[in-house]
Amino acid sequence: MNQVNNKNKPVFSLKDINLFYGDFQAIKNITMDINYNEVTAFIGPSGCGKSTFIRILNRMNDLITTCKVTGEVLYEDKNAYDKNFDVIELRSKVGMVFQKPNPFPMSIYDNIAYGPRCQGIKDKEALDTIVENALKKAALWDEVADRLKKSAMSLSGGQQQRLCIARTIAMEPEVILMDEPTSALDPIATQKIEDLIIELKQDFTIVIVTHNMQQAARISDKTAFFLLGELVEMDDTNKIFNHPKHEKTEQYITGRFG
Ligand SMILES: Nc1ncnc2c1ncn2[C@@H]1O[C@H](COP(=O)(O)OP(=O)(O)O)[C@@H](O)[C@H]1O
Ligand SMILES: [Mg+2]
Repeated sequence: MNQVNNKNKPVFSLKDINLFYGDFQAIKNITMDINYNEVTAFIGPSGCGKSTFIRILNRMNDLITTCKVTGEVLYEDKNAYDKNFDVIELRSKVGMVFQKPNPFPMSIYDNIAYGPRCQGIKDKEALDTIVENALKKAALWDEVADRLKKSAMSLSGGQQQRLCIARTIAMEPEVILMDEPTSALDPIATQKIEDLIIELKQDFTIVIVTHNMQQAARISDKTAFFLLGELVEMDDTNKIFNHPKHEKTEQYITGRFG
């Protein structure tokens, strides 16, 4: 998928990012690269800016009127905050899955077909293929193949979250952002999503916010530790969990605060 891009470069390259909500500075001078086909986890105590920072990547903060971002956000080498940059295109290339599963109140099929239809795909066979492939990639097909016309609201929480992932996949994104995607789910549903994320990185770049450090350790390649709006350190996940450079990281991952 999208092999035209030079995947040796980072998909996102962020430099000197500051973010303000009115007078309050929520993100302080963060520089970070995010690599293709990796899982990058954002960890840190509640309120440290993880959700704020992940929303910078698809410009979701644009919707908050008091919010101002400075610094440089390069998405595939293009300035994502440039006036001429197409935000709609960005949001289709950088999809997002939220904490609480939010399927549309329509059938399973229509949830997945919604985005492609909006993009002008009307042919039934083409849509059938998109729906089937997205559900297969999201590891949901076997559970719903015989009830595609049933309401998405009839699915369990874990199935709804995989449906939301399938809905994102149907848009053929490059990057999938996930903000605490399993925190509303039981342990079995959580494990299914974790297994799925590990599968998905073959095709997509994943950025995940999690307050669950074991989850970050299990599924991510890179871990970024945030504290009070700053990026304390970011490195290979096994280094962060086994040999962190900073005392604050060590204290956090050993459960001494947060
Ligand atoms: N829309 C907003 N307006 C003002 N302040 C906000 C808004 N959203 C978040 N904040 C503040 O920004 C800081 C970071 O919040 P957030 O990114 O949600 O942290 P996290 O996801 O790590 O828990 C917190 O102090 C929070 O209160
Ligand atoms: Mg958050």
